[in-house]
Amino acid sequence: MGINIALDGPSGAGKSTIAKMLAKKMQYVYVDTGALYRSIAYYVISKGVDPKDSDSVVPLLEDVNVQLTYADDAQHVMLNGEDVSDKIRTPEVSMGASVVSAIPAVREFLFALQQNIAKENNIIMDGRDIGTVVLPNADVKVFLTATAEERANRRFKELSEKGDSSTYDEVLRDIIQRDYNDTHREIAPLKKADDAVEVDSTHLSLEESVEEIYKIITEKTAGTKQEGKRKIRQLPKVDPVVKGKKLSPVKMFFYRILGLIVMGIFKMYYNLSFEGRENVPTDGSNIFASNHRSYTDPVLIALPTRVPCTYMAKEELFKQNIFFKWLITAFGAFPVTRGNGDTAVIDTSIEKLNSGKNLVIFPEGTRSKDGTVGKGKTGVALIAALAQVPVIPVGINFEGKLKFRKKIIVRFGKPISPEELNITSANPRELKRLKGIIMDEITKLVY
Ligand code: DC
Repeated sequence: MGINIALDGPSGAGKSTIAKMLAKKMQYVYVDTGALYRSIAYYVISKGVDPKDSDSVVPLLEDVNVQLTYADDAQHVMLNGEDVSDKIRTPEVSMGASVVSAIPAVREFLFALQQNIAKENNIIMDGRDIGTVVLPNADVKVFLTATAEERANRRFKELSEKGDSSTYDEVLRDIIQRDYNDTHREIAPLKKADDAVEVDSTHLSLEESVEEIYKIITEKTAGTKQEGKRKIRQLPKVDPVVKGKKLSPVKMFFYRILGLIVMGIFKMYYNLSFEGRENVPTDGSNIFASNHRSYTDPVLIALPTRVPCTYMAKEELFKQNIFFKWLITAFGAFPVTRGNGDTAVIDTSIEKLNSGKNLVIFPEGTRSKDGTVGKGKTGVALIAALAQVPVIPVGINFEGKLKFRKKIIVRFGKPISPEELNITSANPRELKRLKGIIMDEITKLVY
């Protein structure tokens, strides 16, 4: 699996030019997904079919074979063996692409192709739904915008230079129409992913936009990955954690009492049960890695443990209000900046494990709305590998939303030991393997 960078945004925001420059700078493969939709539109138009006539468009897909090839540092689109890279750049094909891209069968047709390319390489993929649909787990997501007028201005210049006779007003009209099509279609509409960083290029030069996005990418991938070469990151110097350091007896006493009270309240309120409790170590300095369903998850995991747990919580939660900040801090939370290869978080995690506490991590980074378990980030594997402590997989199960008397089952799996798996360094390949094992085990514990 390569490093995936998703660059989305409306037509004419400069995505392809910028992505190309970045790909060159970072030695990534640039994938222009718009070209795929364009090649379908081109084929449809060449067969004399109206792109709006979806009933006629869909059967044509059977005769289409689209491939992306790379030669001389450039992407070439091969349509049934013919290189159509230049032919798909006309205003007619642009509008046709915007229309055919709203047809679900067309999107489905191109979906696997895009995902497969991303699996194999370090890529920068530009499009409309890359961060939201095609690569929801991309390492970095950028949403590039600019006003419609500025985009029309740029496109108009570009077309004029190529000898196209379209007027500025026509270009602007086209852009507004495509914006409308792309944002209003039912399937995979153009929209910013929640975790994407927005860059407005209206007042930025091309070089400034590239610099800005490059900065975002390097900040976000700092550590795990660098510029296409899979280097071992600059890691903090860490000695393996000495397991099970004893906490003060007074603290332990209060922790047990608090645990019993909260367990009582939770059992009264919910229909709560635990499975695999024998897998919960009685000593401390363990990592609990769980799927993430609700804000009560940290408590559900901590209840059957005998040693206090600490957990990473997203930075935003600490900014809500003073009381909430106090409350979550009292319950052992510490802030993490999402998407950052934040070495301070690693230091803090190791410190907590060294103090004898357990560490709860939600590798998916965010709560799952529908209960499915996501791909997860490698951070959990990194901490486990550096600290050389076991990871106990946890599956939190309930249907729908949490409410009174809701049946909740919390399952604990067998500890996963980096040492037994022979994972003793932060080698990216090994971390990926460990993360894969952890996520698989969590998934098995979720029904
Ligand atoms: O990026 P572009 O202008 O070459 O894209 C052409 C059309 O294809 C655009 O109007 C919307 C559509 N498209 C899409 O729906 N999803 C993508 N990932 C890329 C492009």
